[in-house]
Parts: sequence; C-alpha cells; structure tokens
Amino acid sequence: MSKRENDSKRGRNGRAAQLKLAVLISGSGTNLQALIDACAEPDYPARISLVIANKDDAGGLARAAKVNIATQIIRHKDFAEREAFDQALSDALEAADIDLICLAGFMRVLGATFVEHWKDRLINIHPALLPSFKGLHTHQRALEAGVRIAGCTVHYVRADVDVGPIIAQAAVPVLPGDNEDNLAARVLKQEHRLYPLAVELIARGLVHVENGRVRIEEADSRAEDAALINPPPFG
Ligand code: GAR
Repeated sequence: MSKRENDSKRGRNGRAAQLKLAVLISGSGTNLQALIDACAEPDYPARISLVIANKDDAGGLARAAKVNIATQIIRHKDFAEREAFDQALSDALEAADIDLICLAGFMRVLGATFVEHWKDRLINIHPALLPSFKGLHTHQRALEAGVRIAGCTVHYVRADVDVGPIIAQAAVPVLPGDNEDNLAARVLKQEHRLYPLAVELIARGLVHVENGRVRIEEADSRAEDAALINPPPFG
C-alpha cells in the first residue's frame, strides 16, 4: 500500500487506517508474539485480524487466543492437493479482508497461484541473511560455512522458496563456541525486533517494490554509518 493510499484510508479519528494483518504459523509463534506486542502499542499502524495455523499443535494459537485474536486451523493434511490447501487459505484471508499476510515460521511452501494472487501483500521472515542459506537448517549451515556474521531477513514472497524483494535485515555476530541452538536464539532475538519494524514500514506506506527490489522512503540514509564488524576492530 502506498503512503497516499494509506493516508486516504483514514478512520473517524482522522488517523491513517491500521493495516489488517494475518499471521500464518506452524510452531511456537514467538514472532507472532512480537507482532502481537507491537500491535498493542497505541500508535502502531497495524493490527492482527487473524492467525492461521496448518497444525493443531502450533503453540502460537494459544498466544493469539490469549489476546482474543481470531484463529483458524487449516490442516494441510486435510487436502490431497497443495492447490486446494492454498485455496482454502486464500478464502479465509479474503473473508477476513486482510491487507498483509505475515508468514511467521509457517513451514509449508505456498504455490505460485497463491503467491501471485497475494503479490506484495505477502511477507516472510527467514533466519538467515538472504540470499545466503535459503531453506532449512540455516544456522547449522552458517556455522559449517564459518561465516562471522549471521542474521535474519524479512522479504516479500515470490514463487521460489526464500526468494523475493528484501525489506529489512538484522545481523548478529557468530561467536566462538556457538552451536546451532545458541546462534538460533541470538538470531531469533533480532527477528523479534525486525518483523514489527518491517510491518510498520509497510503500514506507513514507506516501502516500495521497484524492479524487483525494495526502496524505503526516509530510512535508508540513516543507515549510512551503521556497521557490525566481527571480530571487532582494536581500540
Ligand atoms: C523463526 O526462526 C523463523 O525465522 C523460522 O522459523 C522460526 C519460527 O519461530 N522460519 C523459517 O525457517 C521459514 N523458512 P517462531 O514460531 O517462534 O516464530
């Protein structure tokens, strides 16, 4: 949504309308929790209308229920074809009049028809600095590769897995003695900062996809001197 479009969707109080989010989960939902917490702030320009899980035991369902967010379970196992599962998701999202879908540890690959239908209204968080380490076991592979900086990425979803215009990234150092678990925990902590930031930028109409890449109004120039160097320089 452009800034102008969002500005034109003003509520009775004169504030820009809040972006209606759906969050899709498969697991514990700590990123969902970060979005719930952000949406609880009065000035945050989005709210969560719907949480969908593809599994009954997704822990995030309880997080949503606790704050009275509508939840649905759409089990991929109930559908013989991926397209029928995707269509059921789409129908639920359309019925809830969703502006932006946030994949938050949603461990099903969505088909090209779904992705095209929701193009630029569908974002994902991935626990690596894309385009490095797409797919699963990202932290193990980052450790094996010996990278000194790891991180996470929020990006618009395209038909290929973990591909699409990058909205925001956060970087963390890889430290001596790291294993998969503590590197994952260090990255996850930053995911919880990054996802609400990315959603806020979109909701404020500051994110533009141009020629397959993202331009962000206002923010980019502020990052000019930011650097994470690992190992840290002397002095
Ligand atoms: C997060 O680390 C997220 O980046 C990752 O799953 C975890 C979900 O945790 N997503 C992927 O690997 C998708 N390719 P959460 O359920 O606690 O938010």
